[in-house]
Amino acid sequence: MDPYARLEVDGKQYELPIVVGTEQERAIDITKLRGQSGLITLDPGYKNTGSCESAITFLNGEQGILRYRGYPIEELAEGSSYLEVAYLLIRGELPTRTQLDAWVEGVRYHTMVHEDLRQLYAAFPKAAHPMATCSAVVAALSTFYPEDLNPVDPAQVHASIERLLGKFPTITAYSYKHSIGQPFLYPSNRLSYVENFLRLMFGTPCEDYEPDPVVARALDMLLILHADHEQNCSTSTVRIAGSSRANLFASISAGISALWGPRHGGANQQVVEMLEAIDHEGLTGKQFVEQAKAHDDTSRLNGFGHRVYKNYDPRARIIKQAATDVLERLGVTSRLLEIAVDLERIALSDEYFIERKLYPNVDFYSGVIFKALGIPTPSFTAMFAMGRMAGWIAQWLEYHQEPGNAISRPRQIYTGPTERRFVPIDER
Ligand code: ACO
Repeated sequence: MDPYARLEVDGKQYELPIVVGTEQERAIDITKLRGQSGLITLDPGYKNTGSCESAITFLNGEQGILRYRGYPIEELAEGSSYLEVAYLLIRGELPTRTQLDAWVEGVRYHTMVHEDLRQLYAAFPKAAHPMATCSAVVAALSTFYPEDLNPVDPAQVHASIERLLGKFPTITAYSYKHSIGQPFLYPSNRLSYVENFLRLMFGTPCEDYEPDPVVARALDMLLILHADHEQNCSTSTVRIAGSSRANLFASISAGISALWGPRHGGANQQVVEMLEAIDHEGLTGKQFVEQAKAHDDTSRLNGFGHRVYKNYDPRARIIKQAATDVLERLGVTSRLLEIAVDLERIALSDEYFIERKLYPNVDFYSGVIFKALGIPTPSFTAMFAMGRMAGWIAQWLEYHQEPGNAISRPRQIYTGPTERRFVPIDER
């Protein structure tokens, strides 16, 4: 007999099926509960709610495990490339050499953006945050490709995938170029994915630009580490937007907006600003950690804590080591890295953080390394988005390929006034 859970309410019993995943994770399936009992489940913040079954990413927060399609993140970071990982996430299997070459070629073909799209940047203030610009420009892509927006037509979706992966580095680099008033370069398809991005960011029409291979490799690895993280806030946003049959560009634009917030991807910018503030104000790590315990939303230790990880985030471990290696290879020292290491040491031996199982997350060291690689601080979260693009696409696609998929539409428990009569304005 299939496993089930039994729920008793008002003396009536309900049997609810138990769903078991390939890693033996278990969930109580409540899809029929309301129909049978009139009851809904209530879980603000979705702390205990699974929104879907997914075969893309496995995460065990207690043990600090992260795998894409079964492959450990450590092995992918070491031996793969971002576009190969994107293929793995989106297509489900590692590509052969021929498949990878065709995939890379398809993405590379789409690195250039429409001339009229370039003009869009002129409308943004110079101080515009890159996440605002990127979200707006990605949404605007849907105005340029009206013939390819059908979310259930595989050929149209494929075209949108290649366009998103190909154009997003260009879109991100232009948001920076616009902010500093430099001309936009055209992509150079002789370069690799990341090298092309670096040239668009830091090259000018006046001089040749040769990307530093140490920087390019480190950035490629960072994109891999950010590529997917199952049903996080921005990915759930992409799935939810997609569930209305919004096109892929519109859904991803929503995801970029969700990622921007400081409790999510925006934390990488916040961390570096926090480390810089500690440095400038001459605070000790101990003083700052004390402040972060104040239960005041503005004083949290940015880059610490995670909804799912109650152990060291495996991505943070890799990024911390990579930050040390990259700084050494580039021959630079980083005061920010020293402060971060000190903060981590203090926090991990502090009862407040131990009790709540708060560890460094992906954002704690990523800003330090982005900074060492020359990425301007306001663009950090856009770098996160560039990596997460593959995961967002894979998750959006998985949703659409699921038979009988329904629009995402949570319910609520209403707590407002019960029915009352309208009072005309002059009588109030
Ligand atoms: N500093 C200090 N206290 C913290 C921190 C922190 N960084 N994070 C959580 N806490 C405390 C909370 O105050 C709460 O304490 P309480 O139980 O005494 O009330 C407890 O730890 C649990 O925290 P919640 O906010 O309930 O945990 P939740 O799972 O809802 O939030 C989150 C997770 C948003 C990541 C949170 O840890 C946080 O704000 N961290 C800082 C921002 C950050 O780094 N975000 C990036 C996350 S990774 C990513 O999205 C890519």
